[in-house]
Amino acid sequence: MNVLLLGAGGREHALAWKLAQSPRLTKLYASPGNPGIAKHAELVEIKDGDHRGTIDFCLKNSIELVVIGPEAPLVDGLADNLRTMGFLVFGPDKEPARLEGSKGFTKDLCTEAKIPTAAYSRFTSADAAHYALKEFGLPVVIKADGLAAGKGVIIAETEEEAKAAVDGMFAGDFGKAGAEIVIEEFLEGEEASFFALVDGKTALPFGTAQDHKRVGEGDTGPNTGGMGAYSPAPILKGKMAKRVMKEIVEPTIKTLAKRGTPFSGVLYAGLMLTNDGPKLIEYNVRFGDPECQVLMMRLESDLLELMTAVAEGKLKKAKKPEFAKDSAMTVVMAAEGYPGEAKKGGRIEGIDKAAGKNVEVFQAGTAEEKGTLIASGGRVLNVTARGKTLKAARKAAYDAVGKIDFPDGFYREDIGWRELERA
Ligand code: AMP
Ligand code: GLY
Repeated sequence: MNVLLLGAGGREHALAWKLAQSPRLTKLYASPGNPGIAKHAELVEIKDGDHRGTIDFCLKNSIELVVIGPEAPLVDGLADNLRTMGFLVFGPDKEPARLEGSKGFTKDLCTEAKIPTAAYSRFTSADAAHYALKEFGLPVVIKADGLAAGKGVIIAETEEEAKAAVDGMFAGDFGKAGAEIVIEEFLEGEEASFFALVDGKTALPFGTAQDHKRVGEGDTGPNTGGMGAYSPAPILKGKMAKRVMKEIVEPTIKTLAKRGTPFSGVLYAGLMLTNDGPKLIEYNVRFGDPECQVLMMRLESDLLELMTAVAEGKLKKAKKPEFAKDSAMTVVMAAEGYPGEAKKGGRIEGIDKAAGKNVEVFQAGTAEEKGTLIASGGRVLNVTARGKTLKAARKAAYDAVGKIDFPDGFYREDIGWRELERA
């Protein structure tokens, strides 16, 4: 089977690494890819957002399955156009991708399907929003409705901060994403991520993880795309996982199917585990980055077989996904300045030395210049390891980090702290 993988990050490197292990794979192409992905795929350049060009490439190269890594092309309707042309696609159509593309869309779906989530209201003007703030108490959460690269959420501690957040969003702080906003109740609890493969009708659990969103040790400083993750998330096992499927994932899938806009792909539920049970914070319609890296490290099933079953709507008859009982951890090495302006061009050495049995160095923001690997993005490497316990995985990951020479980089030394403290 010929497969085209779209995307350029550590998530896509982990997917390429796993897809390349499938006996069903004939040839893997990736666009735009990165030097890490190039070890497993032929890199090609299809212009971002060029749906016609993507279709032409697939026709010319006998592509059977297209795997769409990031959210933007999904929200933009690339999957619909590929499906219309008869290709198998891993990733949802435009309408169900609104689960990530519009926070208000998801909140309304939660109301309709009685899914537990924070109380909320939607607004299209600052005046109405200011007026409604009184009803929410403090802290209060203000969100830009649309895609804002993970940045469109402000937790306001005071009324002034809340009003400023509302005004900022309507003034265009997050561009078009803030033309509409959601105000919600602040939820207390611990956050965790739950993944499910969904083929329109059937949903199968596909692992759990916990991310570290803040840039600094002890979860301090500004939010990032994620500075490290581990899987599984022990707080999401057993009964709790069953509740998430029954109370959150399944009603979502049923409601979308009933509307005639079924969801197909991976559904990523960002959850708050509160005293009243699990509540949905947000949905993503693709794998998490860097959560995908730790999931792939533990996945024992054939990823290509599973993705094909999802795309064909045959998940019910497919072999259930199997994960190793092991734990996996990934430590993100980022370029100085991230999540602000990240320093580009920093030299990276030693990743081959760092990789080994049960250790992979996934590349996220790298480029090659005259044979040398350099940093080209904010999050640069995802040093990922597997071990019998989380402690063992952590030791292996940090040992590998220690073998990498990246003078312009930094990383958090406390990935997994919450879990290790509990242990
Ligand atoms: P989101 O982009 O919706 O995941 O929000 C980003 C982060 O903001 C989440 O990971 C949470 O840490 C936090 N957050 C979002 N909504 C809430 C909420 N209602 N209560 C508490 N924290 C929240
Ligand atoms: N790591 C968070 C995300 O992928 O959205």
